[in-house]
Amino acid sequence: MRHSHNHSTSIVLLVLVLVAETINPAVAERRNADHSKHHKDANGRMQRSHKSIKSPENAKPHNEVTNKKVAVVQAQTGTVAVLHCKIKHNNVTVLWLKKQGNDSFTLLTVNASTHSWDKRFYASNEKDNKDWTLHIMYPKESDQGLYECQIFTEPKTRVFVKLELIEARAEIFGGSPKIVKAGSPLRLSCVLRRSIDPPMYIFWYHEDRMINYDLMGGAAVRHGRQGSELVIPRAEPEHAGNYSCVPSNARQVSVLVDVKHGHSKKVCQHIFIKLLIFFKVKSRLQSSLEQRRQP
Ligand SMILES: *[C@@H]1O[C@H](CO)[C@@H](O)[C@H](O)[C@H]1NC(C)=O
Ligand SMILES: *[C@@H]1O[C@H](CO)[C@@H](O)[C@H](O)[C@H]1NC(C)=O
Ligand SMILES: *[C@@H]1O[C@H](CO)[C@@H](O)[C@H](O)[C@H]1NC(C)=O
Ligand SMILES: *[C@@H]1O[C@H](CO)[C@@H](O)[C@H](O)[C@H]1NC(C)=O
Repeated sequence: MRHSHNHSTSIVLLVLVLVAETINPAVAERRNADHSKHHKDANGRMQRSHKSIKSPENAKPHNEVTNKKVAVVQAQTGTVAVLHCKIKHNNVTVLWLKKQGNDSFTLLTVNASTHSWDKRFYASNEKDNKDWTLHIMYPKESDQGLYECQIFTEPKTRVFVKLELIEARAEIFGGSPKIVKAGSPLRLSCVLRRSIDPPMYIFWYHEDRMINYDLMGGAAVRHGRQGSELVIPRAEPEHAGNYSCVPSNARQVSVLVDVKHGHSKKVCQHIFIKLLIFFKVKSRLQSSLEQRRQP
């Protein structure tokens, strides 16, 4: 009777050891990089503050534009769009405008000064002062359309550039939900689709916690040019939940992970080895105690 009682205490102890080994001291980290929200704010301010101006010589702007050669520039949302305007003399005033509607243009920049309240727009003189470049930080869908560069030479030169935006999106292989057996590896591969530029970062979130720099138990994050992979060598029930792949310049994606409690081979082997070691140590202790008791 006493013997079996001892055994059940040992199993409780063993379970406690196993549980203690698998608990991660989670450091809660709030998601503070909600870029899209920030941009919406900037956008809202821009919409309110844009001054529409009508160019005096815009009598037939629609026909004029369609008759001219228009350069097309493609950029990825969340990066920087770059529009070029080549000039011959560097002693001239250069304006950048954005077409709004059929015959009105909004003034963005005059030389290097930004006239829009939206400070995402700025112009700089590059390539030995021979290229007045318009930069649009974190471009978004509403920034698409026709831009005009006016060079105040005699006569005035006008350059038209059409901006097209491409929204890249993240994708996790296998879709959701992803079911993994306890003790088996959990592998999440996130790839970027329609991406022109490599991302500045790709963050992995488990629920609300960013885990890139908080990995335990041999877990690893590997980055490639167009994606990232999260590997947890032995999935445990606490690894279940909502995982999000959040790239700097592409729409994020989430996947639900379900860790099945089924006793996988590896877990059984693991428990068996622990039990073996435990009883070996215990029997050794017992025999040494008995030896001491004997005179
Ligand atoms: C700019 O300089 C060029 C020669 O360097 C000159 O021919 C031209 O008239 C100047 N333009 C203006 C607007 O001063
Ligand atoms: C723009 O810059 C040119 C020389 O870089 C200068 O001659 C011109 O006066 C400037 N225009 C304005 C409106 O500041
Ligand atoms: C702009 O021009 C197009 C084609 O010329 C016309 O169908 C449309 O009604 C115009 N829109 C506005 C706001 O004037
Ligand atoms: C998972 O998390 C993302 C990002 O927080 C959220 O948008 C999504 O709705 C969540 N999915 C589920 C099923 O809770």
